[in-house]
Amino acid sequence: MRIDVLTIFPDLFTGFLSTSIPAIAIEQGRISCHTHDIRAYAANKHRKVDDRPFGGGPGMVMMCQPIFDAVKAAESQDSELRAVRVLLTPQGERLTQPRVEWLAQQPRLTLLCGHYEGIDERVIEELKPLEISIGDYVLSGGELGAMVLIDAVARLQPGVLGHEESAAEDSFSVRSTDGAHLLDCPHYTRPREWNGREVPDILLSGDHAAVDRWRDAQRIERTRERRPDLLQNSPLAEAQPLPAANNNKPAAQVARANRSHASGEVGGLLGQTAPEGA
Ligand code: ADE
Repeated sequence: MRIDVLTIFPDLFTGFLSTSIPAIAIEQGRISCHTHDIRAYAANKHRKVDDRPFGGGPGMVMMCQPIFDAVKAAESQDSELRAVRVLLTPQGERLTQPRVEWLAQQPRLTLLCGHYEGIDERVIEELKPLEISIGDYVLSGGELGAMVLIDAVARLQPGVLGHEESAAEDSFSVRSTDGAHLLDCPHYTRPREWNGREVPDILLSGDHAAVDRWRDAQRIERTRERRPDLLQNSPLAEAQPLPAANNNKPAAQVARANRSHASGEVGGLLGQTAPEGA
C-alpha cells in the first residue's frame, strides 16, 4: 500500500514513521509513506497557504490552490495506483475498526491534514475525499488523525505483527457468533504472583479449550460492562451464569464478576478479518 500525506507539518511524521509498527511495515515493504509539504505548492511568493474567512469570523481558512496542486502532484506519482482520498476532520465519519479494515485493503491512500479553522469548502467538493474523524473532540490539525490511521492500517498488513492471529484477536476485531464486536480479554505474563495478585488458575491449567472458553467469556463480560452499546442487538447483552476463575482479583471484584460473568458456552468467538459495510 502507498500512503501520501499532505500536511503543512511534514516533520511531525519523521519520528512516527521511523518507530515501532509503522517502521516495521515500511521496512517490510508492506507500506510506503510519502509526506508532502502543502506549503511547497503555494503559488505566491510568501508561500501562504491560508487566508481570512469570507463573511468574517475568527481564525484562518486553508486556501484551495495549494491543497489541490499538492494532491494532484502527489497522485501523479505511481499514478497507476488509484487512491482513496481521506480528509481528517472532526466533522467526518467516526473511525471504526471495520473502516480501518476496509482502508487497509486499498492499494493507495491520500491523507489530507487540515489546519486552522478549516479548509475552503470548494476544494473539498472538488477532491471528494472520505471525511474521517478520530473522535468527538477537536485537535489543532489532522496530523494526529493521519498518524492514528496509518498505525491502524499498517498493523493489519500481512506479516507486520509477526503473529498472524494477533490482529484478529484485538478489541473490535473479535466478534461473537452473532456478529457483535467485542473488546479483548485480559492478558497476563510472569510472574505468576505480583503484589499479592495471582494469574487466573485456568491460564496455568494447560487446558487450551478451557482457556479459549474463559477468554471468550471474559471478552463478552468486559464488553457488557464497559461498552454495552456494542451488544445492543445481541442476545449476549443478557446476563449469563459464569464459571468462577477470577482468583487474581480482590474478593469484592470476584463476587461482582461471578454474579454477572458470561458462560463460556454462549457466543463462541470468530476472528474478524474481512471488512464490513465500509
Ligand atoms: N482534526 C481536528 N480534529 C480532528 C479529529 N477529531 N479527527 C480528525 N481530524 C481532526
